[in-house]
Amino acid sequence: MCCGRPCDYRRNMIAEREIPLIAAPMAGGVSTPELAAAVSGAGAFGFLAAGYLSAEALAGQVERLRALTSEPFGVNLFVPGRHRDVDLADYQERVRSASARYGVDAGSPQWDDDQYPAKVDLVITQRIPVVSFTFGPPDRSIVELLHEVGSEVVVTVTTPAEARLAAEVGADLLCVQGMEAGGHRAIFEDDRELPGGGPLYGLLAAIRLVQAEVDLPVIAAGGLVHGADVAAVLAAGAVAAQLGTAFMVCDEAGTQPVHRAEIAAGSARNRADPGVQRAPGPRAGEPVSGRQHRCTRGLPATEQPDQADARRGGQGRRPGADVVVGGPDLCPGASSARGRTGARLIDEAGASLARATARLG
Ligand SMILES: Cc1cc2nc3c(=O)[nH]c(=O)nc-3n(C[C@H](O)[C@H](O)[C@H](O)COP(=O)(O)O)c2cc1C
Repeated sequence: MCCGRPCDYRRNMIAEREIPLIAAPMAGGVSTPELAAAVSGAGAFGFLAAGYLSAEALAGQVERLRALTSEPFGVNLFVPGRHRDVDLADYQERVRSASARYGVDAGSPQWDDDQYPAKVDLVITQRIPVVSFTFGPPDRSIVELLHEVGSEVVVTVTTPAEARLAAEVGADLLCVQGMEAGGHRAIFEDDRELPGGGPLYGLLAAIRLVQAEVDLPVIAAGGLVHGADVAAVLAAGAVAAQLGTAFMVCDEAGTQPVHRAEIAAGSARNRADPGVQRAPGPRAGEPVSGRQHRCTRGLPATEQPDQADARRGGQGRRPGADVVVGGPDLCPGASSARGRTGARLIDEAGASLARATARLG
């Protein structure tokens, strides 16, 4: 034992990667073993997303990933919320009428724990190099068990208060998610009084506030697409930049064709008319950032794909933001994750930092 931890405990697995980029865990089929293997194999860091998967399916993905690469990788788990008695009748009715339009069965609401205990057992027995948690901190006892088997523990946070809670359970790193992030917001408790479910901090502000609150390395996530974005968060003190939407268009991602087409179309539209086209990735009941469409219009603010815009009664776009996702902007001549992580982003980030340094004199 050293520092109260077993000696094979490998700190800084992410901070010491050759390339400071992470392919975000993206549940719902987007993250695949192939994507994680390509990203980790290129010297960056790949993740599997355990959310919505059965423990058995997750075990299969871990096995496949280990067959593809011997490089380290991460697994992300959803921490289940408390089981609450909430009256969902109105919401159910809205979903039912939307489903009827498409001739599909809406099903009935039910609470489930996403097989969290079984997945926690799996990541411990499989000695997954990095385990990250979303929607809440894990229990301290789980963090201790993960440390005993040598895993590094990441907790995703959106506010300084969440960062404090994550530090208290023993997290090694924090993934700081800004309000620009695609997919659902990783808030610990959904505050129904606030349109975003909690305070909405832009990424740079969130990094600064979290660093003032706790002394832990941070990963930055939210709206990062270009090398200059990566340079900005590294300059702000992050040890790595986590990209989600940008990786959705990679060959190795499991992104549905309709989503790929929408991201590419959004990129083309943005070139003519800058605005944000976020990737789809909703989880019912959690605030999300994505594209508005027929099914989401009329839902309460926290279920809108883009709460910030919904407050203004808009169409799922945030004027003024200048993120362009998808298509040839990201990776000319290289649509594979290996091509993207290895070449363009890092070169661009270096060039951006050199320009900034020169400007500073
Ligand atoms: C389709 C999609 C699914 C996502 N699923 C997860 C997930 O399972 N777990 C998680 O921690 N974050 C998830 N995220 C959020 C990402 O981890 C990350 O915070 C976000 O993608 C960063 O913003 P960006 O998309 O602008 O790069 C998801 C994002 C997207 C776009």
